[in-house]
Amino acid sequence: MKRILTYGTFDLLHWGHIEILRRARALGDCLIVALSTDEFNAIKGKKAYHSYEVRKKMLEAITYVDRVIPEECWEQKPHDVELFNIDTVVMGDDWAGNEKFTKQLLGLCNLEFLPRTTGVSTSSIKKDLGLQSPVDGISQIPEPTLRNQ
Ligand code: CTP
Repeated sequence: MKRILTYGTFDLLHWGHIEILRRARALGDCLIVALSTDEFNAIKGKKAYHSYEVRKKMLEAITYVDRVIPEECWEQKPHDVELFNIDTVVMGDDWAGNEKFTKQLLGLCNLEFLPRTTGVSTSSIKKDLGLQSPVDGISQIPEPTLRNQ
């Protein structure tokens, strides 16, 4: 079984996300998404509209995604690859050549950067909606309530 791993925040789920997940899953038999936690996003200077739990539930509802695990720090990649016996890590090509991937994963697994879907991103959606920065009101919008079933 060929196992694929990808990383990201996947906030305000959009077509570019669906497309990278579809293409990543097509490279193997199982796709694991390491989803940036809210705490890790804070370290990256990012604030997601949806909480980690909501973003996780949405990803789990996508047919291409087999499992969602937390991404809690930059350094966890070699550990993830070993733990889940990963063959290929896939990212959009905005990450191409980035040492956070190339250096950490060198010799451990394959690394593929797929072309990004043009014309859409979480940032551009936020910009279009007038939510340009985290202090612009995003955190004031109530989260949907999650129930267990
Ligand atoms: N991605 C993509 N095409 C897009 C947007 C994102 O292929 N149009 C990919 C990214 O390259 C990454 C994954 O989706 O591999 C998750 O990216 P993420 O940063 O969560 O989404 P963005 O829309 O790029 O978010 P932001 O604008 O906040 O950077």
